[in-house]
Amino acid sequence: MSEALSTRHLLGIDDLSAADIELIFRTADGFKEVLSRPIKKVPSLRDTTIANIFFENSTRTRISFELAEKRLSADVVNFSSGTSSTKKGETLVDTVNNILAMKVDMVVMRHADPGAGVFLSRHVDASIVNAGDGTHEHPTQALLDAYSIREKLGRVKGVKVAIVGDILHSRVALSNILCLRKLGAEVTLCGPATLMPRHARDLGVHVSHDLDETLRWCDVANMLRIQLERQGGDGITNFPSLREYAMLFGLDRKRYEAIGKEITIMHPGPINRGVEITSDVADGAHSIILDQVENGVAVRMAVLFLLAGGPGRSARS
Ligand code: CP
Repeated sequence: MSEALSTRHLLGIDDLSAADIELIFRTADGFKEVLSRPIKKVPSLRDTTIANIFFENSTRTRISFELAEKRLSADVVNFSSGTSSTKKGETLVDTVNNILAMKVDMVVMRHADPGAGVFLSRHVDASIVNAGDGTHEHPTQALLDAYSIREKLGRVKGVKVAIVGDILHSRVALSNILCLRKLGAEVTLCGPATLMPRHARDLGVHVSHDLDETLRWCDVANMLRIQLERQGGDGITNFPSLREYAMLFGLDRKRYEAIGKEITIMHPGPINRGVEITSDVADGAHSIILDQVENGVAVRMAVLFLLAGGPGRSARS
């Protein structure tokens, strides 16, 4: 069995085969055990320097990557576009090449433009990890989501997963669809027609506009954030009102109890409490939202370790 990834970058889930994803999960299992020890650290990347460059806001992803890097003993530098020379007109390629000139080996990047990571990977000599590029992909979120399903249900193959809400603007949705389909899960997208990509079915998923029916069908419901910042602007949304959205597509305790069976509840965060999900469900017994966040560190450790060469590193160095 190969212990190396088939890719040098992680730009999207399409970079990964099902075998790559299984390798990431097995490697994350080992790192999860490390994270349960009193000393949550291994020397695996002590010869590696990683730059986290974030051109968009982030709480979970940024902290999770930084913790993953530090748990692997990498040297870490953090870059925020708001306080950098990009404000003086420097291009993305110049910015990153200047960072790389200081002997950085790997770049983790979040950017508002879809394809920013792909562009960068063609112009700079370092492994690039996409930490979310506009409405395109968020591959490590999908990996940690699928890993959390595997942990909770013991498998991903054959599991029925509903992805609910603002599919149109969601990089989490696209990465989740690609990852779950590669691993053999069945996926239904559920949301208003105005938040559903026109060719969604071409991705091998079911499409529904009826949340109650979808919840009765699924084993897992991943409730996405309504991304008002990506909608029309000036308060213009793709639906009449948040109140109507919550009534038709929000998950509350009454709706959960009406399903008549137990399902697992997920959310990638940040949560709009009372819109896509109410607090009693988000914080309830069937929610694995904080498990997703916890697993994110182990999964990102696995991604960084494997992109840096994995177990073959010591033999090569
Ligand atoms: N899930 C996620 O990407 O959260 P952040 O935007 O806080 O990183």
